[in-house]
Amino acid sequence: MISMLVTGGCGFIGSNFVHYVLEHEPDIHVINLDALTYAGNLANLADVANHPRYRFVHGDITDRDIVRTAMQGVHSVIHFAAESHVDRSILDSGPFIRTNVLGTQVLLDAARAAGVERFVHVSTDEVYGSLGPSGYFTEETPLAPNSPYAASKAASDLLVRSYVHTFHFPALITRCSNNYGPYQFPEKLIPLFISNLLRNEPVPVYGDGQNVRDWIHVRDHCAGILTVWKRGRVGEIYNLGGRSERTNLQLTHALLEALGKPKSLIRYVPDRPGHDRRYAIDCSKSERELGWHPAIAFEDGLRQTIDWYKSHADWIAAIRTGEYLQYYQRQYGSLVHDAS
Ligand code: NAD
Ligand code: TYD
Repeated sequence: MISMLVTGGCGFIGSNFVHYVLEHEPDIHVINLDALTYAGNLANLADVANHPRYRFVHGDITDRDIVRTAMQGVHSVIHFAAESHVDRSILDSGPFIRTNVLGTQVLLDAARAAGVERFVHVSTDEVYGSLGPSGYFTEETPLAPNSPYAASKAASDLLVRSYVHTFHFPALITRCSNNYGPYQFPEKLIPLFISNLLRNEPVPVYGDGQNVRDWIHVRDHCAGILTVWKRGRVGEIYNLGGRSERTNLQLTHALLEALGKPKSLIRYVPDRPGHDRRYAIDCSKSERELGWHPAIAFEDGLRQTIDWYKSHADWIAAIRTGEYLQYYQRQYGSLVHDAS
């Protein structure tokens, strides 16, 4: 039995990953270290809370003592824990530097001290900056992060790189495009728009709606991370992407159609400052070297995701209170009143 420490396992991708590992890997015991920030939700893992190969540790990755204790006997670390929302990083970058940069450093030091054999650092294509209408991000694309979120992730990637170089630390980095699927916090485009539309509330499209994202189903991302963990080469970076580029407006129209809602629910709101125009991932290295491929067609994945949110009204309702409503008011202002 291998002991795997997953950080941020109560968030969107982390909780999908924990489910994925418990389903597919009978020889892995998962320890989930999560601070339960606004984005961390125990309900995401309620169905496996008593699983014999799962243990939850409530703690912050910047807390050296907690991390040292959690790291004891651990063979591998999969590091998801982060502040992850670009708009929140524009409102206040402080927590992003603290968790994404300092937290990663604390984890790296503790993992080194504990003799961890493999450390997968889960990063993002946003570290590469923004593309024009053509071309793709490869693993060689220079880092050019444009948001405080992306800058904090790039900083953590460089720290990981330095530990590989300086200490021969056995780390690997994945950089993935935009994820969608179950358990995604309804501040990101797809779950925000679905949950608003289910209540017949308007959806806020930034700028002209022509920004492009490359969407990947979270299960494909989880499979990619596990493949990198199993077969990737230490010190390497592996891009993961969905080969499903859509403009935000195309995606919005697809959601409106799937939910049978009118186009009049679209609200064009002021653009996000520094809004990256286009992301598109070249994931051919991961396909060639590791045999991984994104397998879920976007239309199928989106339909399943809509069905999941439709059947999890209680999960959404439990989130759309207190802190969430304050954030929504601050980010979208008058749209709240439009909706009432
Ligand atoms: P999320 O915001 O849904 O979840 C983050 C989780 O980390 C939460 O459970 C939260 O409680 C936990 N956390 C935050 N700060 C912590 C701290 N200081 N100590 C311990 N736990 C803490 O994020 P997500 O969308 O699941 O993203 C997970 C990772 O994947 C992040 O590193 C992100 O940069 C990366 N990523 C995300 C996407 C995407 O589309 N969402 C794409 C590529 C990469
Ligand atoms: P988001 O889900 O925040 O992911 P990221 O910024 O990390 O790519 O946003 C996806 C795209 O949707 C991005 O171009 C910004 C846009 N967007 C809106 O138009 N309106 C919104 O309310 C949000 C949250 C995002």
